[in-house]
Amino acid sequence: MAQTSPHAAVLTELEPVVAENLDRHIAIAKEWHPHDYVPWDEGRNFAFLGGEDWSPEQSRLDESAQAAMFVNLLTEDNLPSYHREIATRFGRDGAWGQWVGRWTAEENRHGVALRDYLVVTRGVDPVELERARMDYMTTGYDSGDKTPLEALAYVSFQELATRVSHRNTGRATGDPVADKLLARIATDENLHMVFYRNLMAAAFDIDPDLAMRAVTAEVVGFEMPGATMTGFRKNSMIIAKAGIYDLRLHHDEVVSPVLRAWKVFERTDLGPEGERAREELAEFLTGLDAQATRFVESRERMRARMAAKGQVPVHV
Ligand SMILES: [Fe+2]
Ligand SMILES: [Fe+2]
Repeated sequence: MAQTSPHAAVLTELEPVVAENLDRHIAIAKEWHPHDYVPWDEGRNFAFLGGEDWSPEQSRLDESAQAAMFVNLLTEDNLPSYHREIATRFGRDGAWGQWVGRWTAEENRHGVALRDYLVVTRGVDPVELERARMDYMTTGYDSGDKTPLEALAYVSFQELATRVSHRNTGRATGDPVADKLLARIATDENLHMVFYRNLMAAAFDIDPDLAMRAVTAEVVGFEMPGATMTGFRKNSMIIAKAGIYDLRLHHDEVVSPVLRAWKVFERTDLGPEGERAREELAEFLTGLDAQATRFVESRERMRARMAAKGQVPVHV
């Protein structure tokens, strides 16, 4: 993560672009309040205060919506780690520092709102949730030795992935209140994505080869921040089977639109190193697309088998 000179130089050159995009972000982002999205009249005490503890039949969410809510909230909960990740790479001074603060404050609202909703509506087991939060936050999230540009490329994709995941989770809940809340959070994630995507677009113009190499590294090695979370593999599979987030969505609705915005495959300003990175990226995307197709086909076969047995597949 050492800021060797080309990386530090790009960050300094990007500073006015950060300032411009921060102003733009603040002008567009609308104030909202987590408490507006929580049906408080459904809340009641748990056994500790003379009420009743959680039991599975109290949840109105099916298995896939519960898995997605659980993963989405825990992912939001690890904000201290993400704050550290971006604060150490982008710094705490000037426009970069202002963005880091603003972004952190916006992200915190997501975890607050989701937790309030889930506890009040008894959507998931609050004991399991709290234990998993303790565990996940104690481990923390560490993205390794990403350079500042790799971190920028990563968050461009990750914010959009989070947007898609929240949006589809909202639909999967079958609850108009949760749907509204998750659509609201997804709007924030989209604005975060636009901010990072604009910065990365500027980085492409400043140092096309460095930017191209960073993008290829991040697409090829992409992993959601929740990978170290309790039950992540099992929950990711449930989420993918339900079509809330899967390889097809990752390829079509996350990676491809961001690459298109940067005109990655139309650029004529790459040197030999950038060209090599772009070729590697194209090859990887062909493989990802094929893998996504195989996954969707096998999911369809599974759904057909379930339908034949009279079982209803969870969220298509
Ligand atoms: Fe978030
Ligand atoms: Fe975000």
